[in-house]
Amino acid sequence: MISFLSLLFLELLAVATITVSFSNGSTYVGCIQSEREALLRFKHDLNDSFNRLSSWDGVHGDCCKWDAVVCSNFTGHVLELHLGNPFSDYSSRAEIQAYLRSVLRGKISSSLLDLKHLVYLDLSYNDFKGVQIPRFLGSMRNLRIIDLSKNKFSGEIPMEVTNLHALISLNLSHNSFFGKIPESIGDMRDLETIDFSANLLSGKIPQSITSLTYLNHLNLSNNKLTGEIPLGTQLQSLDASSFNGNELCGFPLKNCTVATYPTPRNENGTQHEVDWFYVSMGLGFVVGFWSFIGPLLINRSFSSYLSFAFSSSSPLKDVEVSPIVLSENC
Ligand SMILES: *[C@@H]1O[C@H](CO)[C@@H](O)[C@H](O)[C@H]1NC(C)=O
Ligand SMILES: *[C@@H]1O[C@H](CO)[C@@H](O)[C@H](O)[C@H]1NC(C)=O
Ligand SMILES: *[C@@H]1O[C@H](CO)[C@@H](O)[C@H](O)[C@H]1NC(C)=O
Ligand SMILES: *[C@@H]1O[C@H](CO)[C@@H](O)[C@H](O)[C@H]1NC(C)=O
Ligand SMILES: *[C@@H]1O[C@H](CO)[C@@H](O)[C@H](O)[C@H]1NC(C)=O
Ligand SMILES: *[C@@H]1O[C@H](CO)[C@@H](O)[C@H](O)[C@H]1NC(C)=O
Repeated sequence: MISFLSLLFLELLAVATITVSFSNGSTYVGCIQSEREALLRFKHDLNDSFNRLSSWDGVHGDCCKWDAVVCSNFTGHVLELHLGNPFSDYSSRAEIQAYLRSVLRGKISSSLLDLKHLVYLDLSYNDFKGVQIPRFLGSMRNLRIIDLSKNKFSGEIPMEVTNLHALISLNLSHNSFFGKIPESIGDMRDLETIDFSANLLSGKIPQSITSLTYLNHLNLSNNKLTGEIPLGTQLQSLDASSFNGNELCGFPLKNCTVATYPTPRNENGTQHEVDWFYVSMGLGFVVGFWSFIGPLLINRSFSSYLSFAFSSSSPLKDVEVSPIVLSENC
């Protein structure tokens, strides 16, 4: 009997302890009101035609329990948004249907700015066709991982993004980004992973990229980059497939030769190009000139008119024309 009572007592004590620890807030705090509203505004600007974010509603107050949202257990702040399309690996018809049902479209609301503790943003495999990366993203200083891959995003990579000094991974692959890689990319000192593959980026690889000492994964393949791969230990330790599908040269790709960079008055290879330019110009001039003058000269009556018109300097005037033309030709 005594042992039963003491057991009951112990059990009650245990329950009480658990209750206290929960109500104390040290274990779980729900979602923060302002962040919940920010998420609802974010959803409002998205086109979620198949209602993938149906759990994001005004009724269920705790946004930490919504799909794709991860909060801190201790502060209740939203830390992660997992909005990548889960059906990324599709091949069958059914899988394609599933992918299309989960695809998000629309616009990226600046209400994201109210998620001040966000560290992880994944929007991969959706359809933000033609949408640009909003510049305000550069103000979300706690972001550590950004995945915008496979989205048909377009425009330039905004320079502001390089203000994200806490970023360790930036995946922008398989979109339609064009323009240059921001010169200040080297400011994101903690970057370990950069994947810009399969875009339309052009220009040179910024030298500052060599100051990213933690960089262990870089993929710039399948863009329109040109020039020499900057020299820096991390870059040279990378695989050639990181740079393929561009017009780049230098280690780990083939050596840069002079012929790759045509400049006037250089090696023979480029001299030919220059020559052909003048030759074709000269030919064009000759053809143009004679197709106009030729028929007139063949016409004898005009010829005699000429000799009449230039009688003071003799009919030989006509003949003098040809040496001049020939000298243009050289
Ligand atoms: C929470 O628990 C700590 C001890 O773990 C205690 O000092 C504090 O007063 C408690 N706070 C509330 C609001 O109950
Ligand atoms: C959302 O997408 C669907 C399907 O593509 C389209 O029919 C609808 O007009 C879009 N709605 C908005 C508000 O863009
Ligand atoms: C919060 O707690 C749950 C359950 O204990 C755990 O699965 C989850 O990983 C924790 N979340 C974070 C961000 O620590
Ligand atoms: C970037 O995203 C693409 C497409 O989602 C994926 O295949 C690739 O592995 C990612 N890159 C990195 C470095 O994780
Ligand atoms: C870079 O990305 C392409 C796809 O865009 C992939 O085929 C290639 O294996 C990747 N290279 C590295 C080094 O990850
Ligand atoms: C490439 O250049 C390096 C030094 O610039 C040289 O050592 C190497 O032999 C060259 N390789 C080829 C294949 O020309």
